[in-house]
Amino acid sequence: MSKFNTQVGIIGGGPAGLMLSHLLHQHGINSVILEARSRQYCEERIRAGVLEQGAVDMLRQSGVGARLDREGLRHEGIEIGLNERRYRIPLTELTNGKAVTVYGQHEVVKDLIAQRLKDGGDVRFECSDVSVHAIEGPKPAINFTQNGEEHTLACDYIAGCDGFHGICRPSIPPGILTGYDRTYPFGWLGILAEAPPSLDELVYMHHDRGFALYSMRSPTVTRLYLQCKPDEDVNLWSDDRIWSELFTRLRCKDGWCPTEGKILQKSVTGMRSYVTEPMQFGKLFLAGDAAHIVPPTGAKGMNLAMADVYVLAESLRAFYRDNSNAKLQSYSRVCLRRVWKAQRFSWWMTSLLHRFDDHSPFDNRRQLAELDYVTSSRAAAASLAENYVGLPMELE
Ligand code: APR
Ligand code: PHB
Repeated sequence: MSKFNTQVGIIGGGPAGLMLSHLLHQHGINSVILEARSRQYCEERIRAGVLEQGAVDMLRQSGVGARLDREGLRHEGIEIGLNERRYRIPLTELTNGKAVTVYGQHEVVKDLIAQRLKDGGDVRFECSDVSVHAIEGPKPAINFTQNGEEHTLACDYIAGCDGFHGICRPSIPPGILTGYDRTYPFGWLGILAEAPPSLDELVYMHHDRGFALYSMRSPTVTRLYLQCKPDEDVNLWSDDRIWSELFTRLRCKDGWCPTEGKILQKSVTGMRSYVTEPMQFGKLFLAGDAAHIVPPTGAKGMNLAMADVYVLAESLRAFYRDNSNAKLQSYSRVCLRRVWKAQRFSWWMTSLLHRFDDHSPFDNRRQLAELDYVTSSRAAAASLAENYVGLPMELE
């Protein structure tokens, strides 16, 4: 068993773990990332794709925005679809110049891995049997196996950035955390298609047969989703059936519909909201999906991860620079204020746009009234826009 040390041991090399390690490096703080999967797997896994203004600013200001600036697609509006018509929400006009950028999460991951390695960072892939120890004491440690060899990493702090199914959250003793949970009675069937976008902006479509989303990844690749059963068997969906359903739900009176193309990938994801409180115990700090997940409707998952690690990096900086614990002590409280507002927004977007089988005729009429309100009132659209481009990242 070999032993080594670092200041911050980071478990998980997704957007949260990588961005944290990058920001800490800029603050002169050492870290080691332990990731279960291979580098190739992390760089190719298709996940979210919309960056809030604040996340774009963070990537740029920390020096990893060059490719994002070249290849990211800046969106100044989104469209809400209803009754075969699209209504534009002018995000930038309603938020004093803010916008979102469409750039795949795996591209962010690629850029961050490259930068960490360029800066001499210690990023270890294919680590197994990762476990945390002595998190209540002054010197916590992480045990793991790599290339058949067992290691112990002694740290000052541990960052649990290992996603929703990771080992960090369950390592906190029983009775400390409270989980707040909601599962939705549907999922999303998502496809990636080799087809140029037929419209520059995303379309969130309400339809009697269920919600559909038109999104994109690049000038040649479209990303599309269909509301489906939570346990939908993707094998029952031939390419023809998928396109036919997408055309039925998305086609508009003005003739617009997505362009058909070769389906490169298809998968089904369930929809869930979850928050754990607090996001910290002893020397272990949870960030990103390890602490909370949102349904994808509001496009908040990756952005919440970025906001958490911004607060955590600043809190650790205050500890090492000023020998002050105060910011670390308020980490959970500061993150949770913003997390809950993003949870509210994600739940609201989900409720606004999906078909709910248990809705009464009253519920259906109320939902249509809400869609009418959001697409016709500037005040309502401004609230959507403010949340969609991202609420401010606060440190207090
Ligand atoms: N040991 C080491 N690494 C682990 C372990 C473990 N026991 N368990 C999980 N991991 C790794 C996963 O392989 C993954 O690379 O932790 C990483 C967690 O990354 P993400 O799931 O991407 O979570 P996060 O960085 O918080 O980013 C949140 O991901 O799921 C999306 O919609 C979500 O966009 C959001 C983003
Ligand atoms: C995506 O492009 O994957 C995407 C876009 C917007 C969402 C969710 C997912 O709300």
